[in-house]
Amino acid sequence: MCGIVGYIGTRQAYSVLIKGLSRLEYRGYDSAGVALINKYKDLNIYKVKGKVVDLERESENKDISGCIGIGHTRWATHGEPNTVNAHPHCSQSGKLALVHNGIIENYVTLKAKLESKGYHFKSETDTEVLVQLIDYVMEKHHLELMPAVLVAMDKVEGAYAIAIIEKDRPEEIVVAKKSSPLVIGVGDNNEYFLASDATPIVEYTDKVVYLKDGEVASMSPKSGLKIENLDNVTISPEIKKVTMDIGQLEKQGFPHFMLKEIYDQPKRITDCMRGRVNPKTLDVVLSAVTDHKERLLNAKRIIIVACGTSWHAGLIGKRLLERFCKIPTEVAYASEFRYSHSPIDKDVLVIAISQSGETADTLAAVQMAREKGAFIYGICNAIGSSIARHTDTGSYIHVGPEIGVASTKAFTGQVTVLIMLALVLAKEKGTMSRESYEEIVKELLLIPERMQKMLEVDKQIKPLSKEFTFAHHFIYMGRGFGYPVALEGALKLKEISYIHAEGYPAAEMKHGPIALIDNEMPVVIIATRTCLYDKVVSNIQEIKARKGRIIAIVTEGDTVVKNIADVTIEIPTLPPCLEPLIATIPLQLLAYHVAVCKGLNVDQPRNLAKSVTVE
Ligand code: F6R
Repeated sequence: MCGIVGYIGTRQAYSVLIKGLSRLEYRGYDSAGVALINKYKDLNIYKVKGKVVDLERESENKDISGCIGIGHTRWATHGEPNTVNAHPHCSQSGKLALVHNGIIENYVTLKAKLESKGYHFKSETDTEVLVQLIDYVMEKHHLELMPAVLVAMDKVEGAYAIAIIEKDRPEEIVVAKKSSPLVIGVGDNNEYFLASDATPIVEYTDKVVYLKDGEVASMSPKSGLKIENLDNVTISPEIKKVTMDIGQLEKQGFPHFMLKEIYDQPKRITDCMRGRVNPKTLDVVLSAVTDHKERLLNAKRIIIVACGTSWHAGLIGKRLLERFCKIPTEVAYASEFRYSHSPIDKDVLVIAISQSGETADTLAAVQMAREKGAFIYGICNAIGSSIARHTDTGSYIHVGPEIGVASTKAFTGQVTVLIMLALVLAKEKGTMSRESYEEIVKELLLIPERMQKMLEVDKQIKPLSKEFTFAHHFIYMGRGFGYPVALEGALKLKEISYIHAEGYPAAEMKHGPIALIDNEMPVVIIATRTCLYDKVVSNIQEIKARKGRIIAIVTEGDTVVKNIADVTIEIPTLPPCLEPLIATIPLQLLAYHVAVCKGLNVDQPRNLAKSVTVE
């Protein structure tokens, strides 16, 4: 969480930083700040509690000149969101300004040592320790900035991506990274960019360097890009090309990124299948499977690790892999898995699912499983992200940047990749008949079209959502493939509308949650014909008998549930494994419209950040 940016070159840095921070705001929006050095070597720092627009207001009529600067958008960890705790932080000497994404675990010890040397701290953050420590090392050892950072960071435990500028030497930005992402953009005119991901950089250059853990870099128009690791070994920069459609970083006429991303799904799922599902031969090919066939087919057990929405996609993956490939599959929260004593060895295949590819717990789970000999398959969206780089192989979901904090198109992209993976493995293992395989592939190819049609339900859901603006609780239910959909629907609602929502396997209701049902409790239920229909109909009757308000997702042509439920939303007849791709859409739209009706900030819900880089 937290986003950092920086620029050094011939342009005015301020506008590059502001634009970059707006792109990174999905990472946190508790406070924002910039530090700039002007041509007189004045270090100007502007910071505010709030968002990047508040920062722009704050810097109006102030000196925002300078061709070097760093910026930050914060998701608070240590210290409440206020101006003092906002980054950039300045050293006591007034010489250095620093921005940081991550958590410094030994900051209490470092702070005490620095206090004993006469350093005073203004903020409650762990970050301020870094800037004072670097300042101390420079003074004590008479070192320039980069060597001082190399010495200082060796004493630091925890996760960091930092950028530092020095008031008296506006010719250099120094950056360092460990366990938090940092990308350097190499411009054409001796200019350099830095950011937590490539989105602030792509409109200036397509040449990027992904800094690795334990590396420190100096970016200077005069002396170029120099990278060293903490063992003082010089590293030659590995320049990669990134391509990103800038249009995807804009709302393109939609009021919110979330709505745009919901509407984007037909196109993005087409992208996800492109080159992988052959409409003529009906074959599915994933290069990761082709390249690592033996290792994948020998897996005796699969463990899917993920968090949040990606974990919900994992629950669908489990059902697919067990049904099609007959491989025992578990789904673990990455945060629990990494501290569990689950026996892992070379016969285990770990599938790590992550939109951002930066989620700290998922990354740590991957590293732990790898050390124990498991083979790791990544399913990520962000190209070149940490998880994508730390896995043995994997498949990108290719749905383009997801900016709304609530995940939508990434979920359907993850499910699509899991369907393709299960189909490919089933074919290779011979655990599925060609007929069933082809039937699913044919239907999979129709999904983008069906999604497009499903989006028409927006007309039905928008007016409906008004009725639920004042609800305090919601229950979502489903069975089989419908259960993860229910969990995902509940998560979408709670994270953006702040309405308490729970997802349950429908049959579990009787074991407790049914006590919650009264005439004020809306119940959303996936009641399609494929998901143990008769049993779910009984569950609906039980809720109706207790006067719950029922919104049911049904298969087209349904008459039974229609007679019982208050509202029914129809989806087409599909193989059960493909239903989540369509049934999720009305639930995404319901959450979206309820939040809009409540006047909430849909794209930036309170307390959340898109990329959870803290544990
Ligand atoms: C919910 C949401 C989160 C993420 C979770 C994992 O809408 O976005 O629950 O799914 O933080 O993030 P990734 O997939 O980036 O690892």
